[in-house]
Amino acid sequence: MKKIVILISGRGSNMQAVVNADIAGAEIAAVISNQPDAAGLAWAAERGLTTATVNHRDYANREAFDAALMRVIDAHQPDLVLLAGFMRVLTADFCRHYQNRLINIHPSLLPAFTGLHTHQRAIDAGCRIAGCTVHFVTAELDCGPIIAQAAVPILDGDTADTLAARVLTAEHQILPQAVADFVSGSLKIDGSRVLNHRSSQIHNIGNTTVLSV
Ligand code: GAR
Repeated sequence: MKKIVILISGRGSNMQAVVNADIAGAEIAAVISNQPDAAGLAWAAERGLTTATVNHRDYANREAFDAALMRVIDAHQPDLVLLAGFMRVLTADFCRHYQNRLINIHPSLLPAFTGLHTHQRAIDAGCRIAGCTVHFVTAELDCGPIIAQAAVPILDGDTADTLAARVLTAEHQILPQAVADFVSGSLKIDGSRVLNHRSSQIHNIGNTTVLSV
């Protein structure tokens, strides 16, 4: 069994998609939030999952917060730490500590639109396509070897909210698949590239085209 610790900051719909996927060979060891009132924490607790809060406001600086977070995470001896809507920038020490076992989902087609407000920025830039990326985390924000991406159209009249909803549908497809591929040992990091033994797939979900791998 591969143990997974999931970090969230809010709603936790990506965490729910991973939990609901019931991935063979994976055990959700804990769901941890930096926000005590994160809706996703309540959802996880209701399902009997172990939950914890490490409130960043209780720490003087980023280093102290990350050190406390690492202690709580490491108590579960995870094989994988999953950032599923975790909205804190992590220190280089944290990223190094979990090197090659720290995965993030980001709501853009990286390397475009790192950081925040990705959907509005894609609309403002006149992009016709938006999407999401699952990647291994390195110390540089929203960089690191890409595991999976999904592309969706940007439609005339889209707002950041309508686009976010379309991208989120795709996030819920590629994140559980990426975690399953990690757990089954299908992923191999080769420099900046992730090789995946599983063959590439194209799915159509409504008007969302999901390209994984
Ligand atoms: C998701 O869209 C995720 O990609 C994004 O936050 C949302 C969380 O939703 N993550 C980031 O922006 C990280 N920089 P969720 O809580 O429902 O999974």
